[in-house]
Amino acid sequence: MSSKRDPTAFLKDEYNELVKQALDWRLRELQGPSSPRAMVDNKEVIMLCSNNYLGLSNHPKLKQAAIDAIKTHGVGSGSVRPIAGNMDLHEELERRLAQFKGAEASLVYQTGFAANAGLIPQLVGKGDLIISDELNHGSIIDGVRLTRAERAIFKHADTPDLGRVLDEAKKKEYRRILVITDGVFSMDGDIAPLDQIVKICKPHGAMIYVDDAHGEAVLGEGGRGIVSHFKLTHKDVHVEMGTFSKAFGVVGGHVSGSEYLRKFAYNKSRTWLLSGSHPPPVAAACIAAIDILENEPKHVENLWKNRAYFIGAMSDLGFNTGMSETPIIPVMIGESDAAQKFSVRLFEEGVFALPIVYPMVARGTARIRVMMNAALTKDDLNGAITAFDKVGKELNII
Ligand SMILES: Cc1ncc(COP(=O)(O)O)c(C=O)c1O
Repeated sequence: MSSKRDPTAFLKDEYNELVKQALDWRLRELQGPSSPRAMVDNKEVIMLCSNNYLGLSNHPKLKQAAIDAIKTHGVGSGSVRPIAGNMDLHEELERRLAQFKGAEASLVYQTGFAANAGLIPQLVGKGDLIISDELNHGSIIDGVRLTRAERAIFKHADTPDLGRVLDEAKKKEYRRILVITDGVFSMDGDIAPLDQIVKICKPHGAMIYVDDAHGEAVLGEGGRGIVSHFKLTHKDVHVEMGTFSKAFGVVGGHVSGSEYLRKFAYNKSRTWLLSGSHPPPVAAACIAAIDILENEPKHVENLWKNRAYFIGAMSDLGFNTGMSETPIIPVMIGESDAAQKFSVRLFEEGVFALPIVYPMVARGTARIRVMMNAALTKDDLNGAITAFDKVGKELNII
């Protein structure tokens, strides 16, 4: 007798429910490179929502490095790294990254998500405690869910609250304690108080893990990231995780720290061991990005100049830009439908910037999230500011 159950009915039902609540993603199509003036859905727009902060994804040196690597190494690595896919390019990238970061060693993962999901569950297990900032990124949350450790949350960027959790933890004899935080929080653009976190964790012997996806090639000396920004070392911050998918303009995750961190991580992370390694052009383009960061400081400098210009103009117009301390600039709108409308109107005015709405942020705090870019010209920025001014007045936001 066959079952009456329709095995796939939930796909349509749940999708339709998302549509009903306006929580579904409507994908726009980028028709060409991610550049300051980009073609999106057949319209030329000023790009304000790409993570390609420095414009490196379309940089001639990265493209040439990728083409050269295809010529010498082909388009694929042929295997996972522990078998036959550990190319000289992967090793060179890790040596260069460790040098750039001032760390003993680095390890490259296929993505930042794979780094968090693969490494976090290996660092702690039964008998351990993991303490996480309440606003940490979803890839950290998933990594935490994969651990068998006890879990605790501290209030966002609130070091006294972290201290409270650590004091509470003294009541139990935990084997290890891992404190984990985003470096730059992607919804608000604020920076984790990593120096304070280090100070508070030290007496507790807690290990510190920072996910610097949005600080990579943005914060610190020449874009060396959050550890450099706070003038800390990898003796203070034991795992500095990052991504090549944002300011580096390519794709891939990585961790930097001690030589033993690297050896431990590649022997234990299942995402690393059981998934194919980067194609040669990806590794080569990432190496070229490090060359550029080391030799062309203007990209990081321009990013911060553009940020200062844009945020100044937005404040002058009367917009609230929240807690931003970085090139992530939330333009606060309020209700979700108003933010969605704002984004649609901006697009009609030739500006591509996306709304961030509940449940990604709390109700009533919907915003347009602007991601600043080093390659935007004054003309581009002025065009964007004019559009924000027009739509802001039209929708009674300013
Ligand atoms: C804070 C944070 N961590 C990790 C990731 C994942 O990085 P990747 O895109 O390399 O998988 C992201 C990307 O959205 C992020 O914002």
